[in-house]
Amino acid sequence: MSCATGLDGKVAVVTGATGGMGRVIALELARRGAHVVTVARDPRRADPLQHQIEAEVGADRFDVVPGDLSRREDVLAAAQHIADRHHAVHILINNAGAHFPDRRLSVDGVEMHVALDYLAGFGLTVLLHDPLILGRARIVNVVSDTLNDTRQVKLLHRPRPVTLDTVQLADLRALNPAAGFTPFEAYARAKLLTVMAGYEGARRLNPYGVTVNSVHPGIVATDIIDDLVPPLLTPFKGLIRRMMLSPEQGASATLRLVTDPGLSTTTGAYFVKDTETATSAVSYDLVAQQKIWNVSAHHFGIGPTSTDTPPPACVP
Ligand SMILES: NC(=O)c1ccc[n+]([C@@H]2O[C@H](COP(=O)([O-])OP(=O)(O)OC[C@H]3O[C@@H](n4cnc5c(N)ncnc54)[C@H](OP(=O)(O)O)[C@@H]3O)[C@@H](O)[C@H]2O)c1
Repeated sequence: MSCATGLDGKVAVVTGATGGMGRVIALELARRGAHVVTVARDPRRADPLQHQIEAEVGADRFDVVPGDLSRREDVLAAAQHIADRHHAVHILINNAGAHFPDRRLSVDGVEMHVALDYLAGFGLTVLLHDPLILGRARIVNVVSDTLNDTRQVKLLHRPRPVTLDTVQLADLRALNPAAGFTPFEAYARAKLLTVMAGYEGARRLNPYGVTVNSVHPGIVATDIIDDLVPPLLTPFKGLIRRMMLSPEQGASATLRLVTDPGLSTTTGAYFVKDTETATSAVSYDLVAQQKIWNVSAHHFGIGPTSTDTPPPACVP
């Protein structure tokens, strides 16, 4: 059994902990003393992590909430499940994500990158509002620097940030439309939405001492990479994976953001690994950020509010 270091009594929600970086992050937070909660569409896939946490840290330190995070109802149910069991949440890492090779719709009629890579994390953030405030939480959204550069092969031309048609923000189902659909750009756009809602969320939650940051973890050898390698480079997949960061290396920037005492007040920032970095011009459009927030909150049954609204409750 390992010695806890610093997160005793803290609750950490980590999505996408059945594999890749999420599994490393969840295990490390448990090792440091946190009670870890994940949401998994197939809870059996969390069994190996469950067994490892039990063996290394002890029983009753890891909960698996069943849920497909691309589904609105499952996000609502998972948040309710977590809030019913945990008065306070101290860490929320919205890490679950995927790259889809073609245009797919969620059961709610939203393009899948938008549903999973963006809305799931947004939903947990707004639906866990009260426990996050009570925990003076650190929220980290795991995104991708594809939002700053959608070139899959970066040898030619200049970086090409993903575009955003702000007119489409009136209806989530209009985002990543069929016309001109490109999977890699759709993925990048979902990550851009995450960063923009994160900037808005950072302002909204700042009065409560809750921080919201986004991080690109680097290029990491996990399952998602098999979907992201361009067809041209498929024969070299094994070699490419060996040149990438390991899941442990990829997890380190996210872990730093939720544990480093020097970052306890850092909020509204975007990091490429450990370095705070700017995002594309459109990401700083305050009106668009607020539109994204409001249309997404509406998706989860929450009415529009303004950043200027005073805090409805005091932080104890
Ligand atoms: N790897 C990279 O180079 C890289 C670079 C930039 C950003 N990222 C981001 O890093 C995050 C973690 O990805 P990873 O690289 O660790 O990939 P990964 O190994 O494929 O892990 C993805 C995780 O998300 C979960 N997930 C997928 N769809 C889900 C759904 N519908 N409901 C609930 N959970 C679902 C997966 O669970 P299942 O077991 O159910 O599949 C898995 O635990 C993602 O947000 C990704 O976009 C990765």
